[in-house]
Amino acid sequence: MAEASDTQSLEILAENVQKSFNEKHVLNGIDLKIERGELVAIVGESGGGKTVLLQHLIGRLHPDEGRVLVADHEVPGAPLKDLATLDEAQMDELRRHWAIVFQKNALYTGTVYDNIALGLEEIKGYDDARIEKSVRDAVEAVGLDPDNVPQLEREELSGGMAKRVALARAIALDPALIFYDEPTTGLDPEHASQIQQLIQRVHDRKTDLGMPRTSVIVTHDTGLLSRLQPRVVMLHSGKVFFDGPTEKFAQSASPIILPYLELMPILHGRDRSR
Ligand SMILES: Nc1ncnc2c1ncn2[C@@H]1O[C@H](COP(=O)(O)OP(=O)(O)OP(=O)(O)O)[C@@H](O)[C@H]1O
Ligand SMILES: [Mg+2]
Repeated sequence: MAEASDTQSLEILAENVQKSFNEKHVLNGIDLKIERGELVAIVGESGGGKTVLLQHLIGRLHPDEGRVLVADHEVPGAPLKDLATLDEAQMDELRRHWAIVFQKNALYTGTVYDNIALGLEEIKGYDDARIEKSVRDAVEAVGLDPDNVPQLEREELSGGMAKRVALARAIALDPALIFYDEPTTGLDPEHASQIQQLIQRVHDRKTDLGMPRTSVIVTHDTGLLSRLQPRVVMLHSGKVFFDGPTEKFAQSASPIILPYLELMPILHGRDRSR
């Protein structure tokens, strides 16, 4: 394991991550360091391995080669832990401080209330009164009506509402680390803009313990980049091809980046959200 002094403020450290599916190399040696409090956008062509990388960062997939270390916020100083070495109980400790907003909203059947309450009960261990308050606060935070929306069934939600509920469910967990997979894809500009603002607001608000939040967003949304100005990490051929500020990314003349920049609005507009 790396020296503690080097890694004190690191939230995520991926080293030489390689992954193939049936001989197809998807990740070809990803190196990535994310500091606590950073706002990072992971971009790159469709099918380029962004979701697969995200699945490695949350321990759902393990690398064929290389390793992924993530901060353990249950322990003072939040030391990095190699995800491949953890058992389910140890993974649960890390997950208690995470929230994940999936590419497909992945709401369960049941009401909005059920969807938000489940994690609060199972992951956070809150009692009923605290759950009720947290659900209200989270629904309100995403701009929905806390008096009516919690009672709605999943099937009654529009696409934009479902995205906001998915976000409310994540916010309610008060995560130190929050992952988003294409949170605005397929939304009309107004709803996309609302979600961008919410992501910014959640990121800027410290956790209940007063810690900075780390946000990792897989996206094709140029509007999100220009509004949030994240650090941009672009994957290409299974590697990190670009890593730097949004401004530099947007102005790049690279023959790899330019065609992708042109394609982004089309990829962003595709409704793959449901
Ligand atoms: N469980 C799996 N088994 C086999 N192949 C997989 C699996 N998961 C992903 N892949 C393949 O890995 C490649 C990368 O997929 P991934 O979903 O990470 O792309 P992406 O960059 O997220 O694309 P998009 O922008 O369209 O969401 C694709 O070719 C996909 O078919
Ligand atoms: Mg994807």
